[in-house]
Amino acid sequence: MTEFPVRPAVAEDYEEMGALFAGAMLFESSVDDLGRRLFEPERALAATDGAELVGTTRALTRDLSVPGAVVPAAHVTGVGVRATHRRRGLMAELITRQLREVPEAIAVLWASESGIYGRFGYGAAAFGTSYEVDLHRVGPSSVRTRPGEISVLSAADALKELPSLHRNLQERRPGVSGRSDLLWEQRLTDKPDDRGGMTAREILVHRDETGTIDGYALWRGKMGWGPTGPASEVQVEELVAVEPAAYRALWQHLLTLDLAATLRFGFAATDEPLQQLVTTPTALNRRVTESLWLRVTDVARALEQRRYAVAVDLVFEVTDEVIPANAGRFRLAADGPAVRCERTEDTADLSLSVTELGAAYLGGRRLAEFAATGRVIEHTPGTLTLATAAFGWPIAPASIEIF
Ligand SMILES: CC(C)(COP(=O)(O)OP(=O)(O)OC[C@H]1O[C@@H](n2cnc3c(N)ncnc32)[C@H](O)[C@@H]1OP(=O)(O)O)[C@@H](O)C(=O)NCCC(=O)NCCS
Repeated sequence: MTEFPVRPAVAEDYEEMGALFAGAMLFESSVDDLGRRLFEPERALAATDGAELVGTTRALTRDLSVPGAVVPAAHVTGVGVRATHRRRGLMAELITRQLREVPEAIAVLWASESGIYGRFGYGAAAFGTSYEVDLHRVGPSSVRTRPGEISVLSAADALKELPSLHRNLQERRPGVSGRSDLLWEQRLTDKPDDRGGMTAREILVHRDETGTIDGYALWRGKMGWGPTGPASEVQVEELVAVEPAAYRALWQHLLTLDLAATLRFGFAATDEPLQQLVTTPTALNRRVTESLWLRVTDVARALEQRRYAVAVDLVFEVTDEVIPANAGRFRLAADGPAVRCERTEDTADLSLSVTELGAAYLGGRRLAEFAATGRVIEHTPGTLTLATAAFGWPIAPASIEIF
């Protein structure tokens, strides 16, 4: 406990909490009606110093795709402590209390710095790739599409057309956060002040031969001239395609825009299919970083919620220093859609902490990789290989938005 009392937030805290977080992250605070409607005060905590707020954390009610399912996941955001009150344990108290109170079996977040959340049992569960594509080296310089194959959609039409494509992605790829109508509205808002000198966002869609939209891309551009001529930039914010033809056509369109020298895309998956479409993958200039951190807050419920790549029947001994009630031995028995996970007194086949469980949960990290550093211990020979195969998934997890 710190000397700064922590209390649940109330609706009236919205502006002060926003300003506190913005100040901690060094950006200009902006409040708007949409943000106010998205604020869930009952899911936010505030640390106080007298009448003033000095620390915050929030959670958003959203779902998340996990291997074989879409499940509720607390989306943690807005973690900030006033610089005058840093390193006195405020964040530790806020995060610990939040983790003990969340009703969902898992919590997820994007971390501003890698060193912050591991101590609370969060594991880096998904990695993202940033591309800085050298368009002069990457491949073909022009493409032909059918008339009407690629077109531009208004934001109002996009609000009606894009959610089902995004849901389709969620059903295929783990790590994708669900969007309510309000979150879609926020996603497609394009305030001139937030454009960083770039053009307004364009919403491109691809239509199949029957005219049905089967893919979209959100992107903007920035004009630039270098010593040898045009050097404009294309910034792709999001690209979702249901069909391979839509994926190929949208990327080809964006990779061959006139005058552009560089294309940036910050949310590629580690197995992004684009790597297969270009003749020179090194021209993508890939940089991999952690994206989604995942915390298992209820082991039995979390393990029962996802599906497993192969049938498995194993006992895991799980340690958890932050939520002691979460620790113990659990038998996971899974075969296709039939999954049971319950507490057991049987001897453990494998031991690990809740951090490794969180890292492996979305199928993007191998349990076996943690054995090399003793973070996963195999007691029964052969079970590490089996558990690694069972927790794996054919499609890598990817989070396509920072929340
Ligand atoms: C990061 C931040 C929330 C930490 O708050 P805080 O109240 O100073 O943190 P605490 O005092 O509770 O620290 C708890 C532990 O985390 C460590 N820690 C704190 N900030 C850290 C950081 N940025 N990187 C690595 N470790 C960090 C502390 O050293 C302490 O470790 P210890 O228990 O071994 O002593 C705060 O500095 C902040 O608001 N930073 C800017 C905004 C930001 O990055 N927010 C996170 C958004 S995801």
